Amino acid sequence: MKDQYKRNIDYLRISLTDRCNLHCRYCQPEVACHVPHEQILRYEELLRICRAAVRLGISKFKITGGEPLVRKGCAAFIRELRRLEGVAQVTLTTNGTLLPQLLPELAASGLDSMNISLDTTDVQQYRELTGGDIKTVFAGLAAAREAGIPFKLNCVPLAGLGFDGVRQLLKLAEEYQAPLRFIELMPLACNGSLQGISGSALRQLWEQHGLQVTRDEQVYGNGPASYYRLSGCSVPIGFIEPIHNRFCAACNRVRLTSVGFLKTCLYSAEGLDLAVLLRSGADDARLEQAMQQTIWQKPWGHKFDVTPAQFNMSQIGG
Ligand code: GTP
Ligand code: 5AD
Repeated sequence: MKDQYKRNIDYLRISLTDRCNLHCRYCQPEVACHVPHEQILRYEELLRICRAAVRLGISKFKITGGEPLVRKGCAAFIRELRRLEGVAQVTLTTNGTLLPQLLPELAASGLDSMNISLDTTDVQQYRELTGGDIKTVFAGLAAAREAGIPFKLNCVPLAGLGFDGVRQLLKLAEEYQAPLRFIELMPLACNGSLQGISGSALRQLWEQHGLQVTRDEQVYGNGPASYYRLSGCSVPIGFIEPIHNRFCAACNRVRLTSVGFLKTCLYSAEGLDLAVLLRSGADDARLEQAMQQTIWQKPWGHKFDVTPAQFNMSQIGG
């Protein structure tokens, strides 16, 4: 469906949980505070919302978290969702650590592709940033290749990554033939002390090292990334720069938090509490009409630069 600014909204991001088995410093506060289980939408409730979303013209679904794979039954849910008439694509954004155990079930679910988060290839840096063991992600990448599910790599480049760190990530991306995307650090409640590296700084760094950076007009996925080609590198490099290269005019998405709030912009409190609606007995027609009205009112753009963030990414799934 179209929103009030004539943007075509055909993509819904669903956060299955705010919990995660890692603790990335840009995503969660030091002491994580989780919502109680009973507030998390049940899978049947999610599927009801998805059916209504499909009737409104949404055909692409992205499953996020926290870490979506820590929620029991995630693969079975994806399978149900993928089978719904009108669903063209279901993709997953994951930290990759649980893939070795879950890939057989995920592959059978009909999952179309994944984005795997990896901000460094350095064992120590990874531990400091996430609290986890990088070997589990490497095992996840190998399992994904083995299962034949295509994936892209997501990196939030932080000061300290360095040219060599970037080069190692490129090498890994080439080894797996996975597009590599650099995501501009979004300033949220928990990460005020962190410093990111901008996309333009990265592109300049490559040019200073004598590499050629050219725009790649091909589209990889449905997201806001702009892609480039780097001389000597065989995979596309994406940049997601919500602040320095804002993409609001082409935004195609809304998101559902794990507690059932339909958010019409990542960085806005606007939206609709679908949990209240569902749990007070609204029928499908009422649900659909309320969603339609909320999506129509999607704000023109984010206000990262105006209002300080009151939330963390783990609460909304990115
Ligand atoms: P695909 O290309 O289809 O895989 O989608 P994607 O790149 O949107 O998915 P992913 O979950 O990997 O998101 C990558 C980054 O883009 C994350 O850091 C998201 O928070 C960010 N992102 C995705 N959508 C939005 C958005 O609407 N606004 C902002 N500011 N950031 C977004
Ligand atoms: N800024 C930018 N990207 C972030 N992500 C999580 N928190 C932030 C942030 N503050 C990314 C994760 C994951 C994606 C869903 O969102 O690294 O790849």
